[in-house]
Amino acid sequence: MVKKSPTIGWFEKLYPNTSTFLLPFPQVQGLNSSWQWYLKGITTPVLRNKIHPYYGTYFPTRFEHLELFDNWLKHYEGAKKTAIDVGIGSGVLSLQMVKHGFQKVFGTDTNPNVIVGLAEFMGNTKLSRKIMLDFGHLFGKWDKQTELIVFNPPWLPKTHDLDSLDEAIYYDEKLFPDFFKVAKERLLPEGKLVVIFSNLAEITGVTKEHPIAKELLEGGRFQLEKCFKKRVKKASNKTKRDQHWRVLEEVELWILKNK
Ligand SMILES: C[S@@+](CC[C@H](N)C(=O)[O-])C[C@H]1O[C@@H](n2cnc3c(N)ncnc32)[C@H](O)[C@@H]1O
Repeated sequence: MVKKSPTIGWFEKLYPNTSTFLLPFPQVQGLNSSWQWYLKGITTPVLRNKIHPYYGTYFPTRFEHLELFDNWLKHYEGAKKTAIDVGIGSGVLSLQMVKHGFQKVFGTDTNPNVIVGLAEFMGNTKLSRKIMLDFGHLFGKWDKQTELIVFNPPWLPKTHDLDSLDEAIYYDEKLFPDFFKVAKERLLPEGKLVVIFSNLAEITGVTKEHPIAKELLEGGRFQLEKCFKKRVKKASNKTKRDQHWRVLEEVELWILKNK
């Protein structure tokens, strides 16, 4: 109601029957920027079209890991019938797979806003017949084996109780053991398991444990085919925050196959 305040479309979209909202200012700011991201969309170096992240969903703001994945997809020579994208988020990895010729991608997410947002984004287009969605934990209802499983998991171990958006960033101690256990059942004999990760937890001193290295060492289920790494670009000079560790940050693309 404040004069000249920006229009925040989420109010009408999510609460069509309410006309007055009483909110703390930081929440208004959050809702406003989320609406702007959604409206204007985000350009990535790996997709021709923009992505339009729905309210309360994770979306990429740096793209090195997407470039690593795109490059790997370019050289991938296996079958392209089906793939599973665990924790589909803004859908960016699924869209990359479709771009590279995958016929069907099965995506899941535990954040309901992700599923609602992507369903709206795809509407009734051809894309909606290529990317199938399920609101569920890990593999959700997708129980058929596929030739490719992709997971860009949270990169930091959890230290507090999580809400939906936190679940994109922090993992609990069960996430990786459960993921690898079910992945073993869902991956076709000649299939590839692709996990995106980063050395963020390590270089910020949060933990020395690397969940993928740990699985390879102790799981007895998968072997390493290749691990690609890429330096993350330095934060802009305008950023005043103390981010000295940023120069060391690398994203990782782990390619695993059945043992
Ligand atoms: C780091 S984000 C990656 C999103 C997207 N795949 C990308 O690469 O931009 C992790 C996503 O996994 C989802 N997630 C977290 N735990 C999950 C679980 N147990 N099962 C399914 N999805 C989960 C989060 O909600 C989030 O959307």
